[in-house]
Amino acid sequence: MLRSLYYALPPAMRFRARRLWYAPLDLWESISGKRDALTPPRGLIFTGGGDFRAQGDRMAEVFRRHAGLLPRHRVLDIGSGIGRIAVPLTGILDASGSYEGFDVVEMGVRWCQKRISTRFPRFQFRYVPLANDLYRADGQEADQFRFPYADADFEFACAISVFTHFLPDEVEQYLRETSRVLKPGGTFCATFFLLNAASEALLPGRTQFAFPHDHGHYRLMDERVRAANVSFREDWLRALAQGCGLGIEAIHYGYWCGREKGECIDFQDVVVFRRMK
Ligand SMILES: C[S@@+](CC[C@H](N)C(=O)[O-])C[C@H]1O[C@@H](n2cnc3c(N)ncnc32)[C@H](O)[C@@H]1O
Repeated sequence: MLRSLYYALPPAMRFRARRLWYAPLDLWESISGKRDALTPPRGLIFTGGGDFRAQGDRMAEVFRRHAGLLPRHRVLDIGSGIGRIAVPLTGILDASGSYEGFDVVEMGVRWCQKRISTRFPRFQFRYVPLANDLYRADGQEADQFRFPYADADFEFACAISVFTHFLPDEVEQYLRETSRVLKPGGTFCATFFLLNAASEALLPGRTQFAFPHDHGHYRLMDERVRAANVSFREDWLRALAQGCGLGIEAIHYGYWCGREKGECIDFQDVVVFRRMK
């Protein structure tokens, strides 16, 4: 109910509503010194609820344990948001490692440049004005976007909670581009809502994340805001990744569809791809 009211607002209004809602708490945390320099005010965190720092730490640990992230890696963060992934990586990557992030929300990119790049110059962020009906009202087509990086530039790439807000043509373009900018043998860790026999059997009884709008190889949560949340058929993703030169090394299924939380490493399905040689 609250979620559908929220989606009914245009993107700029959603940002304003969040700022207003959290303004008293943000003011209190700022004057009482409860918030450190690498944690954004709650009203600016447009990338999801929960504990910003704890969620970032947990995902960085997933990268280390399940995807082989090393301190010397050059990392690409696709949809870097307001730094939830970048902040913990500042404590993992060493002087031989580096980080590039890009995002379509200018405010998030500017916050990261001001708070993170000034302290960690090996962490760089770019604003790319691409369309996404959840996050902005206008922009260029993401399904035509060429990443602004050279071929084989990175050892590691990630897209956390990004393809869950993409339509199929955008996923296809981003997998192709990720494959291009990864070194052969490089790793790509991305999250999805994957439709397969097990998850689809669990969906009918659910009130949230039931994805009622079926479009064949993908399902939408909301027809008005198509990027609100999107799920994809796992066999479609497997075939697409293969065609883009990305092998799927592992899938760690998440608890979004009602699996046992204690048996999952994340809410969303975590997919580890390997760039074929
Ligand atoms: C749920 S947030 C996750 C942000 C970040 N990955 C994290 O885990 O905190 C989804 C992000 O994808 C970004 N995004 C949406 N469309 C995009 C596109 N075409 N290219 C890059 N980022 C995009 C949004 O602006 C938003 O920051």
